[in-house]
Amino acid sequence: MILVVGAEGMLGRDVMALLGDRAQGVDIADIDITSLESVMEVVAARKPDVIINCAAYTDVDGCESNTEKAMAVNAEGVGYLAMACREQSAVLVQISTDYVFDGGKGTPYVEDDAPHPLSVYGESKLAGEMNAAFCPEHLIVRTQWLYGIHGKNFVETMLGLAADKDELTVVDDQIGSPTWTVDLARAIVALVDGGCRGIYHAVNSDYCSWNGFAQAIFEAAGLGVAVKPMTTTELNRPATRPLYSTLDCTRLMNDTGFQPQPWRTALRDYLAARSVQ
Ligand SMILES: NC(=O)c1ccc[n+]([C@@H]2O[C@H](COP(=O)([O-])OP(=O)(O)OC[C@H]3O[C@@H](n4cnc5c(N)ncnc54)[C@H](OP(=O)(O)O)[C@@H]3O)[C@@H](O)[C@H]2O)c1
Repeated sequence: MILVVGAEGMLGRDVMALLGDRAQGVDIADIDITSLESVMEVVAARKPDVIINCAAYTDVDGCESNTEKAMAVNAEGVGYLAMACREQSAVLVQISTDYVFDGGKGTPYVEDDAPHPLSVYGESKLAGEMNAAFCPEHLIVRTQWLYGIHGKNFVETMLGLAADKDELTVVDDQIGSPTWTVDLARAIVALVDGGCRGIYHAVNSDYCSWNGFAQAIFEAAGLGVAVKPMTTTELNRPATRPLYSTLDCTRLMNDTGFQPQPWRTALRDYLAARSVQ
């Protein structure tokens, strides 16, 4: 049995849907990963073969002013899950982020590149990766720029703003791969079923800026919204983001045969899936 922790989150819900009868889901109402007692109790009762941890404190700017919570959920909580998995001889699958990198490499990051987070969120997620490795059977899946039907995300924000604006300003100097949570769920399941261990990168293929992503969203949705450029410095958010943090997925493709689809195709699939919800 696969236990999905954070099963009510944006990614967790798509992972649950894909796994069907193979999975049981728990979220904050059933388990608090910041409590060792809670984690041990739930894992001992459910006896999973695999835990996929989709739970996290994902408010990147919020983490800057709430370091304690960021470290408790994203780092210590993963350590507790690793301890429980170790005791049960289960596999721990931990979801991580491109924000463990500083974005200065200039080409897509491979799994063995040295991490250097720029934000509290990135630091807490990197500490989570290290804690996950306390479980001998661990799989770490780094991803980026997620959007899915079951969560607040950039696509919905843009479509919401388009309701009463015909011109928007969006940053054009951060580059990444927008990734649909359904496609990420497929990659995670391919890695789990393939018995993969260690670190993997999993994103939709090709890349763009947030500005380019916004333009593609309006184009695909048939909306005539002009998207003007601005810089990250002008936007001035509390957390520093990497400017170029695309992730190379060669290891995922070689070891599982899984081929991530281009982000533009995934966006069209998402908009189609969303329209029948
Ligand atoms: N979103 C992105 O763009 C992005 C990019 C790269 C990597 N990731 C990673 O991908 C994973 C999934 O992200 P997501 O956007 O799907 O997250 P999400 O929608 O924020 O879902 C996280 C879930 O974890 C739950 N949770 C929070 N604290 C918990 C705790 N102490 N114990 C148990 N459950 C707890 C949350 O409950 P509440 O809602 O009640 O807090 C929520 O249901 C995370 O590891 C994230 O770091 C996300």
